[in-house]
Amino acid sequence: MPDPKPALDSLPLKAHAAGLNFHYGDFHALKNIEMPIHDKRVTALIGPSGCGKSTFLRCFNRMHDLYPGNRYEGEIRLQPDNVNLLDRAVDPIEVRMRLSMVFQKPNPFPKTLFENVAYGLRVRGIKRRAVLEEKVEEALRGAALWNEVKDRLHEQAFNLSGGQQQRLCIARALATEPELLLFDEPTSALDPIATASIEELIAELKEKVTILIVTHNMQQAARVSDFTAYMYLGELIEFGWTDDIFIKPKNPQTEAYITGRFG
Ligand SMILES: Nc1ncnc2c1ncn2[C@@H]1O[C@H](COP(=O)(O)OP(=O)(O)OP(=O)(O)O)[C@@H](O)[C@H]1O
Ligand SMILES: [Mg+2]
Repeated sequence: MPDPKPALDSLPLKAHAAGLNFHYGDFHALKNIEMPIHDKRVTALIGPSGCGKSTFLRCFNRMHDLYPGNRYEGEIRLQPDNVNLLDRAVDPIEVRMRLSMVFQKPNPFPKTLFENVAYGLRVRGIKRRAVLEEKVEEALRGAALWNEVKDRLHEQAFNLSGGQQQRLCIARALATEPELLLFDEPTSALDPIATASIEELIAELKEKVTILIVTHNMQQAARVSDFTAYMYLGELIEFGWTDDIFIKPKNPQTEAYITGRFG
């Protein structure tokens, strides 16, 4: 049967990393990464602990700039304007306005639930209470948290359980309607019910946004993503359609990892 999938290079890009090297001081953590992020698709980033997945995500929002000794080479071009996110002339604050990141560990602000989610909206100049309330509710519903917290919106975020805090961080990331969502193992602290609702949310979101998600859960990568990238020791080993990567990977290292025969 002919393969009905379109050729990869015929698909529109949201971002593209090329010649990307990253150094933590003397440690060369990302090695010459070349990777497309296809527009309004979900790309899963997989690979063993320490291979550079979080390091790669943190390049997109220029988080590494905060620490001296970190060094980038190469580029990550964001479309449609083709701006190189790593260009020193590009303001990291502006970059961060277009992207949202959810980290491995929940990191709510020391504020109320409401103010956590409204934060990015206020930064963008939205002041009207009714608009803020509507957008906060929408984001909390999207993150599968609304029903649990609708009567607690003015409590401190730290009162929530770990899994609730993570969903609050997902709501905060959604509220500003970013172009690109970067998820670093967003469900590793969640129970199966919340995990399933976040996976459903990802499926809905990709109609409007592009998502790059790091996951250690192979079933999750297979369920939620269109494309999968396999990294090892700072290199991108293989990139392709998720079903190709899981059914007929080209590289024996990829195959060993996804079948659990790695290491
Ligand atoms: N701040 C840092 N300074 C120096 N080395 C670092 C720093 N952060 C990460 N590293 C190193 O860079 C490499 C990649 O780390 P990274 O956190 O990107 O891995 P990962 O693929 O996200 O792993 P995990 O699946 O465990 O989250 C590792 O060898 C790690 O020890
Ligand atoms: Mg990581």
